[in-house]
Amino acid sequence: MTPNHRGNFGSKLGAILAAAGSAVGLGNIWRFPYETGEHGGAAFILVYIGCVLLFGVPIMIAEFSIGRRSHANTARAFQKLAPGTPWRWVGRMGVLTGFLILGYYSVVAGWTLEYIVEAATNSFAGKGADDFIASFSQFTAHPWRPIVWMAAFLLATHFIVVKGVEKGIEKSAKIMMPALFILLLILAGCAVSLPGGGEGLEFLLKPDFSKVNGSVLLGAMGQAFFSLSIGMGCLCTYASYFRDDTNLPKTAFNVAIIDTSVAVLSGFIIFPAAFSVGILPDTGPGLVFVTLPNVFQQAFGNLPWLAVILSVMFYVLLALAALTSTISLHEVATAYLHEEFKLTRGKAARVVTAGCIVLGVLCSLSLGVGKEYTIAGMTLFDLFDFVTAKIMLPLGGFFIALFTGWYLDKRILREEISNRGTLKVQIYRLLVFLLKFIAPIGIAFIFINELGWL
Ligand code: TRP
Repeated sequence: MTPNHRGNFGSKLGAILAAAGSAVGLGNIWRFPYETGEHGGAAFILVYIGCVLLFGVPIMIAEFSIGRRSHANTARAFQKLAPGTPWRWVGRMGVLTGFLILGYYSVVAGWTLEYIVEAATNSFAGKGADDFIASFSQFTAHPWRPIVWMAAFLLATHFIVVKGVEKGIEKSAKIMMPALFILLLILAGCAVSLPGGGEGLEFLLKPDFSKVNGSVLLGAMGQAFFSLSIGMGCLCTYASYFRDDTNLPKTAFNVAIIDTSVAVLSGFIIFPAAFSVGILPDTGPGLVFVTLPNVFQQAFGNLPWLAVILSVMFYVLLALAALTSTISLHEVATAYLHEEFKLTRGKAARVVTAGCIVLGVLCSLSLGVGKEYTIAGMTLFDLFDFVTAKIMLPLGGFFIALFTGWYLDKRILREEISNRGTLKVQIYRLLVFLLKFIAPIGIAFIFINELGWL
């Protein structure tokens, strides 16, 4: 593929599925519950939904417009729309952000592979919450097991990315997303009916606004950016493969609704289950991995074969959801190296994969043998998560909002949003207002409030 012969998503549904495939991933099922747990529950979720509506959807529409207008990778997109200006650094920072995210995201994605094997060999059977906590920390601290899985996951991502956009991404998203959603519904039903699950529901549904502080705001904002895949040009790169008749605002709304439903639905699984067996909601990144095996054990304890089938299905679908997200992250860096440095797609992808494996090894080791080495009190794994989700993505979003709201010729924005006048767009003024004022001021306020140094 050369820049002039870029692939395309084959249908309108394909565009939604690909973007939703990028958005729905570990961010919804792994990160959302533990962030919610660490930040007090219901109030965090409401702030999160506010961030999705006020920052998320407008910035996603902005990324779509930039990407489809320029038909280029993120860095080139800004160069095309704003030649000779420093705006291209927004694109370059995005490529770096995506690369860093992929580095630690692949570690967690690797964990899902280990859990597929554990589920398939029925090793959850007869164990309780304490055993799951112990075996999770043993596994993640192991010097090489998680690294092997991480590398395997990155290689799978690599091969799909090399095959090109249209075949791999669209097809896997089409089957996987509905299947995942149905399974989550079943599991939520099981979790809610566990003894003691009601307390978990209360945690999810009864907001306590006195708990909302700067860290809750920053956490919710970071989670919104992370989960929607925005703030680094990921959806911008995908939109460069959209067709001219793809309805950008509608696609953005659909993706935001799908993504938020999956996140909230996983909350309905994790918290009732966690409260039911006495796992604390602020357990951190292991929350999903220690809680879910309990759901399978408790709900299907007397039907062991069903427990095995459902748990294997769950981890397979989680791994696939993670895969459609790692593909989108990998694609950003690969398209950038391929188009800017004239590497072949294969070579560009190899550079990205190799670099991410190095980052992944470091992040994975930082949970075990390298635990003592901390920066600002965080392990390398936590540091990568903090810096990318809570600083780089919102910062990228801030600049994308400013770029589309203030710099970009409004004629271009209007044309993209209305598919060159063929669609009626009622939300145009509201969108421009959100991009011009609400998103940049809101993001800046949350930064200043919590980080204080900006
Ligand atoms: N949104 C994905 C998830 O929730 C992760 C992801 C994919 C991402 N592409 C991204 C996060 C771009 C930030 C930016 O799992």
